[in-house]
Amino acid sequence: MSLSPHDVSYGVMGWPVKHSLSPELHNYWLAQQRIDEQYGLLEIEPKDLREKTEKLVAAGLKGWNVTVPHKINMMLLCDEISQTAKIIGAVNTVKIVDDRLFGTNTDAYGFIQNLINKVPTWNSQKAALVIGAGGAARAAVYSLCEAGVPKIYIANRTYQKAYELCADFGYNNMTALEWEDRESVIADVSLIVNTTTLGMTGLSELEFDLSTAKKDTVVYDIVYKPLMTKLLKEAEKYGLNVVTGFGMLVHQAAAAFELWFNVSPDLSGGFIDELEERFK
Ligand code: ATR
Repeated sequence: MSLSPHDVSYGVMGWPVKHSLSPELHNYWLAQQRIDEQYGLLEIEPKDLREKTEKLVAAGLKGWNVTVPHKINMMLLCDEISQTAKIIGAVNTVKIVDDRLFGTNTDAYGFIQNLINKVPTWNSQKAALVIGAGGAARAAVYSLCEAGVPKIYIANRTYQKAYELCADFGYNNMTALEWEDRESVIADVSLIVNTTTLGMTGLSELEFDLSTAKKDTVVYDIVYKPLMTKLLKEAEKYGLNVVTGFGMLVHQAAAAFELWFNVSPDLSGGFIDELEERFK
């Protein structure tokens, strides 16, 4: 689905953005809810972000999602930013309210909702290990803090970024780990999350030995292409709980939809499953 920016009132801004699933999800839900709007791809180069955003607003755009590489820079264009987006440091959803740009972040909601949905028995009162310290890690850490996780370890290739993430969240029970030490806390955690780009189609795999993980450990990879990364296949081999990144995508989109249209899309039925099948 590729609509021209002039035909749509909602869309996803990114560069590149052609492979985004968001138009399929949102247009399906718009039809489902009988809302007469269209959602399209808004391909915008980083250098044009301000100018193109202003033009689209003038042309009547009512809201949009923001993806790589605009999530941080979009904050500068918003008139108002939610507390969640401020803490995470990135905006992934914008709504025009009285000609003003309101920016928020639904990635954290998508992250936790997917986890709870897939593993209802996940115990939020046990420690977690987050691998990575970029924007996705910040959303994950935000929601884990909100869920009351008592201890969060952050392991990142660049230690300094892990350290800064811990300091930014000001959460006493966060510890930054050296990349080489990422497996050292395995006996202490019940949730392991990959938020790095490792494991994505075309990139290197995340190497992580899960052989000593506790039986109730949940292994969550926010990468969704492929759906089953090497990390998740390993987790399955050891009988651990596995969560793919696909549901995070769906739930962050559903939260944006709700913000724009004041109605929750119906996530039941075959459409989401069919979409997920395509990634297998
Ligand atoms: P996002 O917003 O999707 O989180 P990002 O901010 O670019 O994207 O963060 C990417 C994450 O993947 C970072 O934690 C990055 O580690 P560095 O902070 O050291 O860059 C991690 N990452 C990317 N390539 C990696 C690799 N080859 N090995 C280990 N970590 C990698």
